[in-house]
Amino acid sequence: MKIGIDQIGFYTPNKYVDMVDLAHARKQDPNKFLIGIGQETMTIADQTQDAVSMGINSTLRYLDQIDKDKVGLLIFGTESSVDQSKSASLFVKTALNLSPQVRTFEVKEACFGLTAGLMMARDYVYSHPDKTAIVIGSDIARYGVNSGGEVTQGAGSISILVKKDPQIMELNEGHSAYSEDINDFWRPNNSKLAKVDGKYSTQVYLDFFTKTFNQYKKEQKLATKDFDALIYHLPFTKMGLKANRLAVEGEEEETTQRLQDNFEASKKWSAKVGNIYTGSLYLSLLSLLENGNLTPGARIGLFSYGSGAMAEFFSGTLVEGYQSKLNKEADQALIDQRKKLSVAEYEEIFNNSLLDPEDSITLKSDEVKGKWYFAGTKNDIRQYSVN
Ligand code: CAA
Repeated sequence: MKIGIDQIGFYTPNKYVDMVDLAHARKQDPNKFLIGIGQETMTIADQTQDAVSMGINSTLRYLDQIDKDKVGLLIFGTESSVDQSKSASLFVKTALNLSPQVRTFEVKEACFGLTAGLMMARDYVYSHPDKTAIVIGSDIARYGVNSGGEVTQGAGSISILVKKDPQIMELNEGHSAYSEDINDFWRPNNSKLAKVDGKYSTQVYLDFFTKTFNQYKKEQKLATKDFDALIYHLPFTKMGLKANRLAVEGEEEETTQRLQDNFEASKKWSAKVGNIYTGSLYLSLLSLLENGNLTPGARIGLFSYGSGAMAEFFSGTLVEGYQSKLNKEADQALIDQRKKLSVAEYEEIFNNSLLDPEDSITLKSDEVKGKWYFAGTKNDIRQYSVN
């Protein structure tokens, strides 16, 4: 049975900081951020956007194109959870008016959360072929003003519909997983900011990529040249570039050029949005499909990495007519319409977003009409509204 990605919805909040401005404020050479890290701008989420509201907004991008009654599973992957007990997916289910019969919950393993959900959704559709599954990845990457990881922040969400006979990409048989209990990046319960061993995390990422990529090729009897594109979890785009350099080492010129060109297409959106943790690999996929020119039948290799750490390499095959399911203009517009913040404005909005609003105060959002937002708490219960 062919199962895979039928729809992809993307959302990123409406404000950003320019990396050149940030570099000047931090007394760094802008080329360190632009070339050394590979980021041009990063989205900033104010207090009214959280994992839940962003997850609703990304799913709304395609909800009117699907049969809601067929959705039997809704999985929410996040490491920016808004509650220690209740799943973010329940707020989403209500906002989207999905059936009470849907099985729904939240999963966590750092940036691996959406991939974990995707694999569960594939198995679910395999055993319930007439049903579909929505899998959401939604996060705000926060390291803190003036921190080492500041330049690798970001915010956004990806939502995916998984279905039999999908219209974008079939998931191929097989995968290669690898995990180890390590401390490269984590976020304790008492902190809204991530803790990170930055240099170590980049080494582990590359090590896990090499392990899973080689294992996958061995098990599936494939060579690097058999992939039309390789895409990566992108905490910052230079990270993926480093992995891609390892992948093409010793390959012929044609393979190297093809994988480099497609990597360039896959990093375009992330270079502007920043790290969106769980959704990041799938933002690479969206960017590749919208900014590259792959033909149906193309094989794409996907590397998912969640700190802590858990990695998986798997692949998909593009479906005939996949282009008609994308909306590049709308995704480009979402990114372009963000308001530029000065560094001082960013710092204020960022620090304010770390505070829990006083109970019973109603928050207002400056998002466009139709976008959902966090409106504050009443009796410590989170409220979500739409503009
Ligand atoms: N022009 C061009 N390049 C320059 C430059 C200049 N003027 N100045 C410096 N550079 C280059 C450096 O040579 C370096 O390049 P290489 O990596 O190729 O050697 C690059 O810019 C970065 O410089 P530094 O190593 O000095 O950067 P840093 O000390 O500021 O740290 C970082 C970078 C470790 C990524 C830090 O931003 C960080 O900790 N980020 C968060 C952690 C992270 O994203 N880890 C990724 C793996 S973990 C993961 O993937 C899960 C997740 O989502 C968090």
